[in-house]
Amino acid sequence: MTEHIGEEFQERTKYVRETMRPMELDFAKKPETFKRYPDAETVELPLPMDVPPMELWRALAERRSKRKYSGGSMTLMQLSQLMWASQGVTARKGEYLLRAAPSAGALYPVETYVVINNVTASPSPAKEEAAPPSPLPSPPAGGRGGEEETTSPSPFPSPSEGRGGEEETTSPSPFPSPSEGRGDEETDGNASGKGEFDWPAEETANDANRVPPGVYHYDVQNHRLECVKTGDFSRDVASAALDQVMCVNANVVFLWTAVFERSKWKYGQRAYRYVYLDAGHIAAHVALAAVALGLGSCQIAALFDDECNRIVGVDGTRESTIYMTSVGNVRT
Ligand SMILES: Cc1cc2nc3c(=O)[nH]c(=O)nc-3n(C[C@H](O)[C@H](O)[C@H](O)COP(=O)(O)O)c2cc1C
Repeated sequence: MTEHIGEEFQERTKYVRETMRPMELDFAKKPETFKRYPDAETVELPLPMDVPPMELWRALAERRSKRKYSGGSMTLMQLSQLMWASQGVTARKGEYLLRAAPSAGALYPVETYVVINNVTASPSPAKEEAAPPSPLPSPPAGGRGGEEETTSPSPFPSPSEGRGGEEETTSPSPFPSPSEGRGDEETDGNASGKGEFDWPAEETANDANRVPPGVYHYDVQNHRLECVKTGDFSRDVASAALDQVMCVNANVVFLWTAVFERSKWKYGQRAYRYVYLDAGHIAAHVALAAVALGLGSCQIAALFDDECNRIVGVDGTRESTIYMTSVGNVRT
């Protein structure tokens, strides 16, 4: 790796009051906000989202990285919840479609892919019964909706708007510290070289209700999945994650890519800071949603970038995989 490139990047992408110039945005060159697979088979995700509620505080307290999965099935409703928590549309503001997770400049450079290993498509009760009101805003008129820029007030407050009281105070955590332990033997998925892990036995179940295993892209606007390719990619994705075997047993593995240009259009090289922050927010949402659904998850950044890129079919420069998360039924 290029020595000191990180320090140089950090230094050279700083905002410095004395040298900062006003932003001039060329809206004619604003990149597309939404990626599409127009010819793809789609999997409609069930709506509305009808799952037992869980208190936010409990979900925060109970979240732990979980790497051992039972292999039990995940429902399409659960997957729908996870997708929605990641980047689902939650509000419309003018032409913008705002999402569950925040994004610098509302530019949404992150695309969500999911490798489906084991998801059951059987209809959920919510589909069969009278549907409660949808928590989602109605779809944009005329399809694309959202990215035509009319006004572009900076989504960041100016320094004079201040920080509005979010100064953090230190307060003793009500939750056990790692050293107090949970007796959980789980540690980092260990990025130590190929062949170290014993792969689990081949999953034999071939349930007609299963969503065809494969690589899918989240169509944010329509809350559905677009099939990029079908097949069992569980071992490929585990291998691309430095042989982290949890990806084989997981029901699904999220891969987040960044379309850097969406953010660079406004922020230049500083955009590379923001896309990773965006991805962190998205992954945190998925982790909490998993807890609320009784599932376990683990964030994954130990990955062979271009192996991941090949799995989802992106070029690794204009768009590249930056983060992953495995989700599954926790093995007790
Ligand atoms: C950016 C990031 C990357 C991570 N990458 C991995 C990974 O590749 N493999 C893994 O097993 N855990 C990974 N983790 C999970 C951490 O090991 C875990 O969060 C940490 O040990 C604290 O444990 P907790 O999540 O249970 O609180 C990652 C976490 C973060 C935030």
